[in-house]
Amino acid sequence: MNNLVTIKDKQFKPYISQQQITTAVKNIADAINTELANDFPIFLVVLNGSFMFAADLLKEVTIPCEISFIKVASYHGTSSTGNVTELIGLTEDITGRTVVIVEDIVDTGITLERLMNVLTRKNVKQTKIATALLKPQSYKKQFKVHYVGIEIPNDFVVGYGLDYDGLGRNLKEIYVLA
Ligand code: IMP
Repeated sequence: MNNLVTIKDKQFKPYISQQQITTAVKNIADAINTELANDFPIFLVVLNGSFMFAADLLKEVTIPCEISFIKVASYHGTSSTGNVTELIGLTEDITGRTVVIVEDIVDTGITLERLMNVLTRKNVKQTKIATALLKPQSYKKQFKVHYVGIEIPNDFVVGYGLDYDGLGRNLKEIYVLA
């Protein structure tokens, strides 16, 4: 097959088409436009992987909203503080706000859990989670993922913002290990 993509030492084959992605993104936007119409949500786009999904999604979101871009940094604190998670880039006061987390993929949910713990301390009104992809067989956390584009098995995928060792984020479609 000539539509395989080689990234470093691995080959990937087409998995989810642009059309499937577009439909999934539109469905999420429609739900958000209906359900959060009166909430003036702030979207927190989790970089780097979510940039492409966020751009497509937010073009279809027609309700009043704010958009901010964050990174989740986690490091070992002192023995008394344990693991410390910090949100980089959040300058807005989100107290009392409806927050929509925009993720590229939810796998084990560890990243999401860290993020949720920080947001809980900031006394937001409510947090909704939107993700382009979800691996349900891997996700074991208790947080409801409100808006899911496409559920996939525990396969490693690249493209549409997702990377393999820093590469492949620019691919329009989603590819899986061949
Ligand atoms: P989690 O904390 O296990 O839910 O994983 C979150 C992060 O792992 C995502 O934001 C991605 O950066 C990365 N990740 C998980 N699965 C994949 C994959 O299939 N391809 C590329 N990155 C992935």
